[in-house]
Amino acid sequence: MKPLRFAVTTSHKQTSDLVDGAKQIAGELAARYVERNKRSLGTLSEDLGVAGMLVVASKKISFVSRAGEFFFHPGLAGLRINELKNGKTDQMIDAMSIDAGDSVLDCTLGLGTDAVVASYAVGNNGRVVGLENSPVIAYLVKSGLASYPEADGDTAAAMRRVEVVQADHRDYLRKLPAGSFDVVYFDPMFRLPGRRSPAINALRVLADSEPLGRETINLAVKIANKRVVVKERRDSAEFGRLGFEKIHGGRYAPVVYGVINCQGL
Ligand SMILES: C[S@@+](CC[C@H](N)C(=O)[O-])C[C@H]1O[C@@H](n2cnc3c(N)ncnc32)[C@H](O)[C@@H]1O
Repeated sequence: MKPLRFAVTTSHKQTSDLVDGAKQIAGELAARYVERNKRSLGTLSEDLGVAGMLVVASKKISFVSRAGEFFFHPGLAGLRINELKNGKTDQMIDAMSIDAGDSVLDCTLGLGTDAVVASYAVGNNGRVVGLENSPVIAYLVKSGLASYPEADGDTAAAMRRVEVVQADHRDYLRKLPAGSFDVVYFDPMFRLPGRRSPAINALRVLADSEPLGRETINLAVKIANKRVVVKERRDSAEFGRLGFEKIHGGRYAPVVYGVINCQGL
């Protein structure tokens, strides 16, 4: 993944707290801090020759580029958790076949929606680690999961338990001992078509969009005690290419889950 050129600034309302916060974030992400000085984000990006600006405001940190604004929100996590509470099926949780106390390695964290639902399912005694290759996404999602104010009790607790690690899963998986997690999960960008969804377009600028390699799946199979699960379009040729024979999901669902059962392998 090519390093992204970006800089950090504040919203127009430039208090000393916001400036201190923006400088600290710039330090953490090894990026440049620039004074906003009433300039537009477009002007700043152009003057600095960067792909986008990380903007620190009093209630939100977001990444603004020509493609739009990217910021943390938990997506459908709360709704999916409520459905699980009401005894409904979540296809991802079913495909993972996880129980309370299990450990899940989410190799493609993104906004963390799937990781939060998995975190609810494994509960207090379980563990979910989310890997994200983009430093900006990892930063925004880590701080969002830790502090998002609008989630209800169980969803908020599930969010706080997800451990975010900024890493390329290809490197991370190589260093893990066999059997380190019960489930290893992938939801690659590659699946997402070039839609006109503003949220996806804003994410795309930041995200690692490389397709999964067969070698990565082979590593995941060694690391998973129970299952390796990949989310893809139902008609995707990726399942065949990556060696997934068992497909899990609703009969008419456009997106389904490829499963490799690792027990007894
Ligand atoms: C489709 S999004 C995942 C969405 C996520 N399942 C959710 O519920 O929000 C894919 C994410 O995986 C990340 N990613 C892709 N390849 C990666 C890699 N090799 N290592 C770590 N993260 C990766 C991308 O940067 C992107 O943020």
